[in-house]
Amino acid sequence: MGEIIEYIEKQFYDLFKTKPEVIVKAPGRVNIIGEHTDYNHGYVLPMALEQGTYIAGKRRKDSLLNFYALNIHRQCIADLHYPSRNPIEPWMDYVMGVSYELKKLNYSLHGIDGVIYGDIPMACGLSSSASLEMAVLKLFEVIGDFTIDDVESAKLGQRVENEFLGLKSGIMDQFISRCGKKEHALFLDCRTLEYKLIPIDLPEHTFVIANTNCPRGLTGSKYNERVTECNTALNTLNSYYKRSATHLRDFTLDELLETKNIMEPVAFKRAYHVLTENQRVLSCIDALKNGDIQKVGNLLNESDFSLQRDYEVTNRELEIITGIARNIEGCKGARMTGAGFGGCTINLVETKYLDNFTNMLIEKYSEETSRKGSCIISPPSDGAKIVKTF
Ligand code: GLA
Repeated sequence: MGEIIEYIEKQFYDLFKTKPEVIVKAPGRVNIIGEHTDYNHGYVLPMALEQGTYIAGKRRKDSLLNFYALNIHRQCIADLHYPSRNPIEPWMDYVMGVSYELKKLNYSLHGIDGVIYGDIPMACGLSSSASLEMAVLKLFEVIGDFTIDDVESAKLGQRVENEFLGLKSGIMDQFISRCGKKEHALFLDCRTLEYKLIPIDLPEHTFVIANTNCPRGLTGSKYNERVTECNTALNTLNSYYKRSATHLRDFTLDELLETKNIMEPVAFKRAYHVLTENQRVLSCIDALKNGDIQKVGNLLNESDFSLQRDYEVTNRELEIITGIARNIEGCKGARMTGAGFGGCTINLVETKYLDNFTNMLIEKYSEETSRKGSCIISPPSDGAKIVKTF
């Protein structure tokens, strides 16, 4: 982290000929279990990563947002009084989206000079976007000298996605990027937004993230399609049981099973995944508490099979890499993580086999797909914070 801070500080100086006022950081995340449950008001169990998005920033006297994205060497200047999307610099939409939502809440905002750098691979299911949103929000808070409550911050980030960017995503990514804690995963009830920190204390095991390095195709539209399919299931359940529930979470698995013959088959499969996945999250938390590692691994596998078979958000590369992982010595379980359609997997591996696991996984994956995979290992880390002030 120290090197990144020095790097971004220097880049800020080179660009703006002055020191920044502050450097903030918000982490990416990996979801251990509870996939595609958040927008159905279900349960999730993500943990924040060490990798994330850093921003060095300084207040301007005018209302311009003058940002430089170091990873892609792009600069963009926009006026926060004229919020609009920018198809040429789509990364700037996250900065603009956050300022737009803050303005709606009547915060008085200032222009900012900023330099952004991320050490989390982009668009591969580790929430680089949510980490950018949460870093931008933290920066506005510091520079504007106000504080927003954690839950409200996550909700604000979700509105940026839902309203400014048109992705009907849930609240998990922003929530963990803001509220994550070192050494813990976070068990979130996406209905009440109450959460519990779950210690991740696995003396002989490690969570390994494997990146298929396969670009996610059509994520946005396919993602929104799944949200619509869940709503179709919800409508059938509501009319069958004469209720007006707002989310799939309100129905039990038994209630769903009773409607199997009258529900549209695709909608039924989607709802079946969601309701069984909620149960898997609860079981996983129990298994973690009891130190039952094999059970945790089995639940990861079951979650993945459900995402392949019923939710249909995996792709060839994800299926290949999880298949390979399960056959390597020391692997207790593997599943895709995040939205799917490409991106990353999470694997629970006996630490003594770690090197062999990562080497074999990358080698065999490349043999079968001609793609270069990579592995990331990160302890559970803290949520959005200030990392340096000047
Ligand atoms: C994306 C969304 C989250 C969540 C996951 C799938 O990461 O941003 O809200 O729905 O997909 O679990």
